[in-house]
Amino acid sequence: MPATTFAQLIETLGTHGHARYDGEDVSQLQHALQAATLALEEGAPANLVAAALFHDIGHLAHDLGEHASAHGLDDRHEYRALGWLKPVFDADVWEPVHLHVEAKRYLCCMETGYIGQLSEESVASLALQGGPMTPDAARAFADRPYAQDAVRLRRWDDAAKDIDAQTPSLVYFAEYLRPIARQ
Ligand SMILES: [Fe+2]
Repeated sequence: MPATTFAQLIETLGTHGHARYDGEDVSQLQHALQAATLALEEGAPANLVAAALFHDIGHLAHDLGEHASAHGLDDRHEYRALGWLKPVFDADVWEPVHLHVEAKRYLCCMETGYIGQLSEESVASLALQGGPMTPDAARAFADRPYAQDAVRLRRWDDAAKDIDAQTPSLVYFAEYLRPIARQ
């Protein structure tokens, strides 16, 4: 069952976050902390730091196995995340999370060289997620509310796979973000 309080979200990351991040060298928790740290370092507002910390919470709540995409499965984690995040945060947190997979498909269409920077795993999951957007779809995406926030989140996500990165602790982010949580 998805968490319904901020404390449960933090606990879920802390207890289930040690699973390997799908096909990458870092754990889910390290990946989450790195994404949130990149958001902080860029001076992003707290709602986007929260989006970065919890963007993959939907990966932690399914029974498809640790490496679903290798088996041709898309866990649709950007939708699963909504059940966890909507009870706790406003749309300025969960909409960027909801759109962060679409943002990858958008960037693949709009930015020459973007796809070449993605990890092998991210390219593999791209095919399962529908591949690069068409130019028409990309224009429509750019007009959606929170699309640009989702693109920012996407770049932190893509960069948050460094096995040597140092980050503040989960406790630090819990204290930092608690004021914007509804419950
Ligand atoms: Fe991610």
